[in-house]
Amino acid sequence: MQKIKPNIYAVGAIDWDRRLFDQLIPLPDGTTYNAYLIKGSEKTVLLDTVDPTKTEVLIDNLVRTEVEKIDYIVAHHAEQDHSGSLPDILMLYPDAKVVTNPKCKSMLMDLLAISEDKFITVEDNQTLSLGDKTLQFIYIPWVHWPETMATYLAEDKILFPCDFFGSHLATSDLYADDLPLVYEAAKRYYAEIMMPFRTPIKNNLEKIKSLEIELIATSHGPIYNNPKFIIDAYTDWASDKVKNEVILPYVSMHGSTKKMVEYFVDTLMERHITVKQFDLASVDIGKLAMALVDAATIVLACPTVLACAHPLAAYAATLTNELRPKTKFVSIITSFGWASRAVEHLTSLMPNLKVEMIEPVVVKGHPKDNDFAALEKLADNILAKHKGIGIVD
Ligand code: FEO
Repeated sequence: MQKIKPNIYAVGAIDWDRRLFDQLIPLPDGTTYNAYLIKGSEKTVLLDTVDPTKTEVLIDNLVRTEVEKIDYIVAHHAEQDHSGSLPDILMLYPDAKVVTNPKCKSMLMDLLAISEDKFITVEDNQTLSLGDKTLQFIYIPWVHWPETMATYLAEDKILFPCDFFGSHLATSDLYADDLPLVYEAAKRYYAEIMMPFRTPIKNNLEKIKSLEIELIATSHGPIYNNPKFIIDAYTDWASDKVKNEVILPYVSMHGSTKKMVEYFVDTLMERHITVKQFDLASVDIGKLAMALVDAATIVLACPTVLACAHPLAAYAATLTNELRPKTKFVSIITSFGWASRAVEHLTSLMPNLKVEMIEPVVVKGHPKDNDFAALEKLADNILAKHKGIGIVD
C-alpha cells in the first residue's frame, strides 16, 4: 500500500513472477494490478480490484489504509485482472455498490455472477460525490474492450483510465520515474493490446484533452506524474506516421530462407533502411509486436511446408492481421522444393491489413544469382515505396 495524496491510496498488487497473459502475451517484466482507494468526507470508493490470484494482497492493503467501510467499488473494465476479486470484496464489504456503466454491468453479471441488485449504473460524464471529492466517469470504449470507462477525480486532477496508457511492469516505484524503462514497457503493452484500436484511441485521446491532469493512475504499471510523456507517446503510436523500417519475421528449415534473409538484410542496410529481423522459431512476440507499431513495411520470409507457408510464418501472419499495425507495404520471400502456394496462403491470412503488396521473391531450392538479384529488386522497390510516401528523402 502506498499513499498518493491525503486520503488517496494505491492498494493494488505487484505480480513480479507472472510471465504470460491470456496464455499468449509474454510478460518479461511481470505486471501490476492497480487498485485505488479514495476516502471522501462522506463516502469511500475503491477503484477496481485485482486479479483473483492476488485478492489477499488487496485485502491486506485495504486493512492497512484503516478503511472502515467501502460505499462504492468502481468497475472500469470487466476483464478479470481488474474485476476478479470483486466477489470476495463484496463479501467483505456487503453494503458496497458496484458503480459501472450498463455494458460493464452486464459483462460482470455474465463473467462473475454478481447479482443485479449490487450495481449502480452511470452514464458517460456522470458525476458521483464523495463529499469533498467528485468522481467523473468518462466512457473510453475499445481500449481494449467495448465497456471500458475512466474516472476523473477533479479536485486532485487525477485520471484513472484503467488499461488505457498501462504498462506490464512489475515495479515498487509508485511513479514512472525511469522513463526509458517505462516507455519500453508501455510501448510493448500498446503493441500487444491497444494497437488494433487506433481509431478509438484517437477518439479517447481527444475526449480527455480538455481535462486538467496532474497524474494518470492506470491499472497496470507505475503512475504517470508527467502525463504529457504517455499522452505524447500514444498520440505518436496511434498516428498514421510510419518509419523507414522493414520488419522481417522469418523461419528457415534447411538454410535457403536464412541465406536469403541475410542477403536481404544487407541490401536494405545498403539503402539506409532500418531492418528488424526476428527468428520465428524463438521470437518474443511482444518484441515483434513493438516493432510493428511504427514500421512502413513487413516482409515475411519462410520455406514451403506441404505446399503452404511454414506454420510459424502462418502464425506470424495471423498475429499481425489481428494486431492491425499501420504498416503500408507487405512482401514475402519464400522457398520451395517442388510446388508452393505459400504466397497465396500468407496473403489470405492478412485480410485486415490495408497494405500494398510488393512483388514477392519465390525461390526454387537453394538461392542462386538470379534469386539474389530478385532480392536486390525487392529492396529497390521498398525504397521507392518509402520515398513515395515521403519517409525517405
Ligand atoms: Fe488489464 Fe484488459 O485488463
